[in-house]
Amino acid sequence: MIFPEYRPRRLRRNEVLRSLIRETQLSPDHLIYPLFVQPGKGRRDAITSMPGVFRLSVDELAKEAKECMGLGIKNVILFGLPEDKDPVGSGAHANDGIIQRAIRELKNKVPEMMVSTDVCLCEYTDHGHCGVIINQQVDNDTTLEILARTALSHAQAGADMVAPSDMMDGRVAEIRQILDENDFQNIPIMSYAVKYASAFYGPFRDAADCAPQEGDRRGYQMDPANAREALREATLDVDEGADILMVKPAVAYLDIISRLHDEFDLPVAAYHVSGEYAMIKAAAANGWLDEARVMQETLLSIRRAGADIILTYFAKDYAKLFAG
Ligand code: PBG
Repeated sequence: MIFPEYRPRRLRRNEVLRSLIRETQLSPDHLIYPLFVQPGKGRRDAITSMPGVFRLSVDELAKEAKECMGLGIKNVILFGLPEDKDPVGSGAHANDGIIQRAIRELKNKVPEMMVSTDVCLCEYTDHGHCGVIINQQVDNDTTLEILARTALSHAQAGADMVAPSDMMDGRVAEIRQILDENDFQNIPIMSYAVKYASAFYGPFRDAADCAPQEGDRRGYQMDPANAREALREATLDVDEGADILMVKPAVAYLDIISRLHDEFDLPVAAYHVSGEYAMIKAAAANGWLDEARVMQETLLSIRRAGADIILTYFAKDYAKLFAG
């Protein structure tokens, strides 16, 4: 069929027709909202490079989660700012650590909220790297045990899902094993399977105070130039017992999302990261872009590429727009 017999515009004539044939749907069900927790009470501190996002004390966190629920967002992922940092990130697995307290408070005040946790050490180490440093290197195997203890402490505090983001080799297997040994067989692992060494994390590192003091993360996070390596990373995580595979960042890596979606049968998550959020906010604040439309188009494109789940700082804004 070619023109003039076939006319694609026939099905674009009005919104009812367009929505009848729309291929991609995105609802708040598919979104996970990242939240930053800090010590104190009644604190709600703005993050300059991420307009609309705040560092919340535990009490404020519960209020925020209630608001999310009201908007139809039923998933959050927690990042913590601890009181103290040390070389081995002890605060990450402390029983009374910031995340552990936050999980208990959320499960207590908003039990229906699905609480995921980021499992990493960079917010808890004084040097800001995602693992323990031995001989000037981030030591993979020493770090594994600390990550596993961290994941276990999250599960013990009541977390519904754990999400390792450190990029150490073998951490998914280590975490699965310790969870299973402690009767947490039913806690899924959402692995940051394909996480690139990206400049788009800049605003997050301000927010979570986790920029490396020296060097960068290229010794453990992936090279943005590599696509086939992403498949190897994902294969390893599948074999180690991951339940969900994540790609991060999202918009600059839509090809990777699409390949993971085609090659694997696990659900795929994509993290629309801080820098991707900040760019849209900044352009909109200057009046250069229509924020709502660009947000919608961006999130839809991530989903269209093959993401089942999107982690995004726009979750609340999208949910409001979705509600109409
Ligand atoms: C922790 C972690 C980071 C992000 C999520 N988990 C920072 C990093 O790896 O440097 C970035 C999230 C964002 O930019 O929104 N390792």
